[in-house]
Amino acid sequence: MSASVRPQTQLRPMRPADLKAVAEVERSSYQFPWSIGIVRDCLLAGYHSQVFEVDGVISGYSIMSAAGSEAHLLNLCVHPGYQGLGYGRRLLNSVLLRAEELSIERVFLEVRPSNLVAISLYRSAGFELIGTRPSYYQSERGREDAVIFAASVDASP
Ligand SMILES: CC(C)(COP(=O)(O)OP(=O)(O)OC[C@H]1O[C@@H](n2cnc3c(N)ncnc32)[C@H](O)[C@@H]1OP(=O)(O)O)[C@@H](O)C(=O)NCCC(=O)NCCS
Repeated sequence: MSASVRPQTQLRPMRPADLKAVAEVERSSYQFPWSIGIVRDCLLAGYHSQVFEVDGVISGYSIMSAAGSEAHLLNLCVHPGYQGLGYGRRLLNSVLLRAEELSIERVFLEVRPSNLVAISLYRSAGFELIGTRPSYYQSERGREDAVIFAASVDASP
């Protein structure tokens, strides 16, 4: 008989020492990844950045900028080897909780219309389609539009 061991998972703030691992996850997950410099700039700018560790390995992260009553989810990513296990939802829930703590009223994000997995996650977390940004993303065939989603953050006790 074999006993299955649940992996140890934790969410924690992103640190400069995480940058290499985060950039590696980024490269594995996107066709047009952010450079390590972009992630570093987000950290330096004080954006709300967290990593998701599975058995001590950085397997996902999120980056959110906040100003006034609005926040922008700039990146949410789970390494392909760890997708479909509920980790993306845990990251997103944590982002929304942080937004609530910051008295944010609305969180915005852009996503490729072709990214049906992410859209399904965002819709199930209360995000609604509010618009389109034409030619926002680099793509294999030139540019691709982004769809913009927004969610209200319920800060009521
Ligand atoms: C989008 C992403 C963060 C989701 O993370 P994940 O850990 O795989 O997702 P979860 O396992 O937490 O699943 C959350 C929801 O996503 C959707 N989803 C997950 N896998 C799916 C699949 N294979 N097909 C369709 N929907 C799927 C479902 O709505 C799921 O909710 P459910 O389990 O209640 O049905 C992840 O796929 C990813 O990092 N993709 C590459 C980077 C990216 O595109 N980020 C978004 C940029 S805007």
